[in-house]
Amino acid sequence: MTRSRSFNRREFLSTAFGAAASFSILRPDHRFLRELAGTPAPFAPFQFPKEFIWGAATASYQIEGAWNEDGKGESIWDRFSHTVGKVKGGYTGDVACDSYHRYKEDVAIARQLNLKSYRFSVSWPRIQAIGSGSPNPKGLDYYKRLTDALLEAKLRPLCTLYHWDLPQALEDAGGWPNRDLAARFTDYVEIVVRALGDRISHWCIFNEPWVFTTLGYSWGTHAPARKSFADFLRASHVVNIAQGQAFRAIKAINSKLQVGTAFSVSNCEPASNSEADRQAADRAYALNNIWFVNTALKGEYPKAFPGDNPLDAMGVRSGDLELCRAPLDFLGINYYRRQLISAIPTGEGEDSTGVHHFDATEGALTDFAWEVWPDGFHDLVMRFAREYPGTPMEITENGCSYLDAPDEHGRVPDQRRIEFTRGYLSALGRAIKDGANVRGYHHWSLLDNFEWAEGYAQRFGLTFVDFRTQKRTIKDSGYWYGKLASTGQLT
Ligand code: FCB
Repeated sequence: MTRSRSFNRREFLSTAFGAAASFSILRPDHRFLRELAGTPAPFAPFQFPKEFIWGAATASYQIEGAWNEDGKGESIWDRFSHTVGKVKGGYTGDVACDSYHRYKEDVAIARQLNLKSYRFSVSWPRIQAIGSGSPNPKGLDYYKRLTDALLEAKLRPLCTLYHWDLPQALEDAGGWPNRDLAARFTDYVEIVVRALGDRISHWCIFNEPWVFTTLGYSWGTHAPARKSFADFLRASHVVNIAQGQAFRAIKAINSKLQVGTAFSVSNCEPASNSEADRQAADRAYALNNIWFVNTALKGEYPKAFPGDNPLDAMGVRSGDLELCRAPLDFLGINYYRRQLISAIPTGEGEDSTGVHHFDATEGALTDFAWEVWPDGFHDLVMRFAREYPGTPMEITENGCSYLDAPDEHGRVPDQRRIEFTRGYLSALGRAIKDGANVRGYHHWSLLDNFEWAEGYAQRFGLTFVDFRTQKRTIKDSGYWYGKLASTGQLT
């Protein structure tokens, strides 16, 4: 899980079941957890392979700004952030890092840090203002210029086709629960890949399908702010169909293009030793981590419900699983943290999977209160390596929010980000040594940026951004990471 749930323990306890439940049923068993976690592995130096791809990631709505320029239409994130009460502090991505105008400066920073890959996303409403119809040449031109700047700086563009900024007009037509979206999305993907496929070889279809369908349609904490588990179920199936169709559309344009998706993954550890919690943890793993992976690679939904998966409520029709199937060329892994899972009676809680999530807090916490636990990264990557042995992985996001700012000398001494990254990369090095086929790592993020419902309250960047002046200052962690990117030597 990558973000605090809207349905936290307090809210859960206020439900009928929660009020009746004894607190001890829900409390994770800490003795058991310590046994489960064991002693964290000590830091081990590692020499990454020469061809390992060092990168950083960004996303359109979080950095571009220029929300209504050059023919761009309104996205669901424009609407959400312009709605009072949705984003902390009332902030918006209207300007964000102004990267739409300053992209050359940002590419130069990536180059200065010796990076080989820059992950960015295309804003769908820049290309089709209302999500259908002929493309907006100015929108395409922006991404051509950005890509050319990257290539000139010897950076590999890794382009994500959807990082959550759906055209608002398509939400008005029903949003992702509307099956028609799969066709609309495929049309858009074809437009972008026809325009940019000559310069971009690596593509992510979606960013974190579980997060945008769950937080957007079930919990209501992200755009488009719906709170309906039924809508989530339908949206998740349409997204799975769209993923398969988009994959085939890209390959039909050029079969050599490398196509994957960036999946949000987190360890789902049972909160106690009970059989019920163990089963709940398996269900949580199925829904959170592989609901959009197994459909593509195996043509089936993993079992995520105590009974059968609710295929009718999901809108699954005969033949659909063939549409979802797509032999992705790589799995993008967005990894942030662990979560603990306990069982709750079905139908009584947040959804009908019978699981309750806790944030793990055994390790130190970042300024976003996300737990630092590098071993979890190793374990998760190894599990994926075992379950999908034929498909290489790229880490498409990993990082941490710490609020360090420039000191009186204008330097940003963010030692905690250096330690965080060193720990996670050491865990990744161990996974590679243990046989995982991981070919690259992208730090989230190149720049401090608009952190969704948190507004500007979190800073994930290797580069500090002063949002009043747009001045960029590379943090100590940026210089540290840049050195690592040039030697591959983790010491
Ligand atoms: C991920 C998102 C990314 C960023 C990080 C912190 O879930 O993909 O856009 O917000 O979390």
